[in-house]
Amino acid sequence: MKAVLSMSISADLLKWYDQHHRRLPWRANPGEKPTPYHVWISEIMLQQTTVPTVIDYFNRFIQKWPSIKHLATASLDDVLHAWQGLGYYSRARNLHKCAQVIASDYGGEIPKEEKELIKLPGIGPYTAAAISAIAYDIPAPVVDGNIERILSRLYTLDTPPKQVKNKLTAYMNTLVPKKRPGDFVQSLMDLGSSVCTPNNPICVTCPIQPYCQAHSKNTVNKYPVKPEKKEKPTKHAYVFLLFNNENKVLLEKRPAKGLLGGMIGFPTSKWSTTEPCVKDLKSSTGKNLVITQNKIKHTFTHFHLFLTIVTGETKKHPSGFYAHPNEYVEFAIPTLMKKVWEKFKAAE
Ligand code: ADE
Repeated sequence: MKAVLSMSISADLLKWYDQHHRRLPWRANPGEKPTPYHVWISEIMLQQTTVPTVIDYFNRFIQKWPSIKHLATASLDDVLHAWQGLGYYSRARNLHKCAQVIASDYGGEIPKEEKELIKLPGIGPYTAAAISAIAYDIPAPVVDGNIERILSRLYTLDTPPKQVKNKLTAYMNTLVPKKRPGDFVQSLMDLGSSVCTPNNPICVTCPIQPYCQAHSKNTVNKYPVKPEKKEKPTKHAYVFLLFNNENKVLLEKRPAKGLLGGMIGFPTSKWSTTEPCVKDLKSSTGKNLVITQNKIKHTFTHFHLFLTIVTGETKKHPSGFYAHPNEYVEFAIPTLMKKVWEKFKAAE
């Protein structure tokens, strides 16, 4: 692309951003310096969660841990608790680890360069570029989902964006200006959320419509090209609600590695692609077990999980601990386990 054209695109976007940018708690106003700690926390939260959901979590998080030093000395359980409901808990574990690494190895300062950022726990290529650009105004080629869609339309890319990541990065490298690269990147994020939306984009208000190839060919809805859809597999297991004589229920900490690693929850049988059967009851520390008709469905990124609720009592001293249901909110319990409890209560 000609340099003069990319300059007009970025200039027109920055002009639009000055008037239309979203006010978000981690953002500085256009032209002002943001706080790198805020940018980092927000980028990790935004990896798999939408902006409206992140806002409250972000505000509470910053109030509790106003700086990297505070976060580095927090307990992991407290951080997981603050993350409760956001999902993808490995983000919280990595965030905590990352704060400790930054505090001990980087004097408490978040590094500026992508090549340094990418060495840190929980920071991949996208997040490294986003922090570098937004927190430090370095012209890094940030490509998130919104930006993929905008570039696909701007250049009528006939391949699904995930399959041409290098090409998209190259386009971004030509577009991102040396002046105000952080605002430029955020202008694309805002354009993607309010104008160049997945369905029914509002092209009449788009500041870069004159440069958009899809718009000129009247094919905007064709882009981004979707990859062939693969069906998600389904897994099944029993989930055990085992009560003691004080009517408290057994909870255990899941192994540190793997999905929901380190989180507290009700014990389950092994998650398997076949329906659970009587032999799966043997793995439980329970007795007087009753397989109920109550099932919950939970969808993870790569599979659906069906849990069938089994009730009973414990037969030997278990490795977990008992808690009264009203105390649950005090623990870092994932949404999946909350769903189990709510289903059980509704059926009682
Ligand atoms: N999504 C990811 N990062 C974002 C940011 N900084 N602003 C708005 N949406 C985002």
